[in-house]
Amino acid sequence: MLVCGGAGYVGAHAAYALARRGVRVSVLDNLSTGHRQALRWGRWIDADLLDPASLDAAFAEPVDAVMHFCARSLVGESVAEPYDYYLNNVAGSLNLLRAMRAHGVGRLVFSSSAAVFGRPRAPRIDEDHPTAPINPYGASKLMVERILADAARAYGLRSVSLRYFNAAGAASEAGIGESHTPETHLIPNVLRAALGQGAPLRVFGDDYDTADGTCVRDYVHVLDLADAHVRALDWMHANAGAHCFNLGNGTGFSVLEIVRAARRVTGREIAYEVAPRREGDPAVLVASSAAARERLGWTPRHGAIEDIIDSAWRWHRAPAY
Ligand code: UFG
Repeated sequence: MLVCGGAGYVGAHAAYALARRGVRVSVLDNLSTGHRQALRWGRWIDADLLDPASLDAAFAEPVDAVMHFCARSLVGESVAEPYDYYLNNVAGSLNLLRAMRAHGVGRLVFSSSAAVFGRPRAPRIDEDHPTAPINPYGASKLMVERILADAARAYGLRSVSLRYFNAAGAASEAGIGESHTPETHLIPNVLRAALGQGAPLRVFGDDYDTADGTCVRDYVHVLDLADAHVRALDWMHANAGAHCFNLGNGTGFSVLEIVRAARRVTGREIAYEVAPRREGDPAVLVASSAAARERLGWTPRHGAIEDIIDSAWRWHRAPAY
């Protein structure tokens, strides 16, 4: 199994989940945003999707399927640097797909995002919800989904695109967790504030049309995401075509509810200040994952928000990188 981007946050947890099931893993990563310390399972291939010649090393040994996590993933940065996002996320994916085709590899799990939906028009987003991304990051993910649909028709490529809502949590027992530079995500920033590290916590906007005025999100444990990838791989044995599934717990938590839950988990004060809205943030993003549950047999095991925050807390108190 080739895990592209396996030194990154979700990719490393997927590599771990595969290794735990006894799957032989190779990790392709250029360590541009991934971590050398997260390369704990299988062979490391130091290759870059933007350098097609370097990809041959990844396919030198037989590859039965690919998981693809390589991407730039900061919404704000994508608005400022759209060329970088289309180059890395779209052109890079095309290079990978062409290499897979050249080497006769016919199954792919693609790391997609709730960002393909743009501004939600329903309280719970299922797979029939219109896709209308509002930033280059989301657009780049949707473009790859479209390429995968075309590749299914033209070349018979089997694929599953998994649209994560808010990935969170860690597997600190395995020495991996969430570590981004800069860190823009809510739960790591809340826990850093609990530790007295980093900048003071800012809550971006308290005047949204939600119960307490702060944005509501659907947080899903990274190990549950990893499990969905493994299920998707198996599922493709019996299912041709290109498919998309939404992955979330189906329950929304506001920013302030996350702060309160983190206070309970950590037993610490966690001060915050209210700041202006962050550009491009929809008020509410909550998944319907009924399709993943029914078709992939996926059931999140770490659905309770305290469990998710507790696993992240264990990582942030003693991060390995
Ligand atoms: N937030 C704060 N303070 C912070 C960080 C975040 O108030 O320090 C707020 C944000 O404004 C937002 C919520 O917390 O309302 C969650 O923010 P995150 O940055 O943790 O996550 P997002 O919902 O913005 O982003 C996630 C994924 C993206 C994906 C997006 C889909 O991380 O990859 O959902 O819209 F594109």
